[in-house]
Amino acid sequence: MGKDIIIACDFSGREELLGFVEKFGERKLYLKIGMELFFAEGPGIVREMKAKGHRIFIDLKPHDIPNTVMRAMAALSKLDVDLCNLHAAGTIAMMEAAVKGLTRADGTRPQLIAVTQLTSTSEERMREELLIERPIDEVVMQYAQNAKAAGLDGIVCSPLEVPKVKNAYGESFLTVTPGVRFADGDIGDQSRVTTPANARELGSDYIVVGRPITAAADPLAVYERCMTEFVG
Ligand code: C5P
Repeated sequence: MGKDIIIACDFSGREELLGFVEKFGERKLYLKIGMELFFAEGPGIVREMKAKGHRIFIDLKPHDIPNTVMRAMAALSKLDVDLCNLHAAGTIAMMEAAVKGLTRADGTRPQLIAVTQLTSTSEERMREELLIERPIDEVVMQYAQNAKAAGLDGIVCSPLEVPKVKNAYGESFLTVTPGVRFADGDIGDQSRVTTPANARELGSDYIVVGRPITAAADPLAVYERCMTEFVG
């Protein structure tokens, strides 16, 4: 399976994104477009980036009734995104509906991964606000198991969790991992971070890297360094 770097394009609008992508010349990138950019610019921004030859991970994390998610996913499939996600908390029925919606008449579909528990949710909040009594690690693994049972391709997780996830659900179960920083870099608001080299050793399939590249004085140089460490 090809390892790659997905750049988190947490920009507020099209001009900022275009200015950023321009710095990479003709290079074909794998870009993550999240709610901020998608809600500001709409699907046109995805079409524009796809037309330039970039791959797109659309990070919108739907969580709704199965029929609504199925229909939303069918729309994403027509947009020709490469990777998309949803909240595993929507249950297996919702995830199965998502796979159905994404699958085109010819049987192809974008890859689909699940978000388990958000890293911003602590065990304490889970227990006190959501009344989920089990340890958070167990909840994350249960959500991953549900995602696998529903036919999803993998999950978003920390690089530190990759060995455990691969061990439980197989090498081909995709792990897409944010929380990556260079050994000599600023960790910012992330807490549990690993380097690109360490993420590679742990077996991540894709690392999601935002500010270390987007906020760099020379994004291309940082991207190349990241590629060398992660892909080799
Ligand atoms: O700038 P930075 O490298 O921290 O960006 C990481 C990206 O991955 C952001 O778009 C962030 O929303 C996303 N993400 C994360 N942690 C998660 C899930 C997603 O950092 N658990």
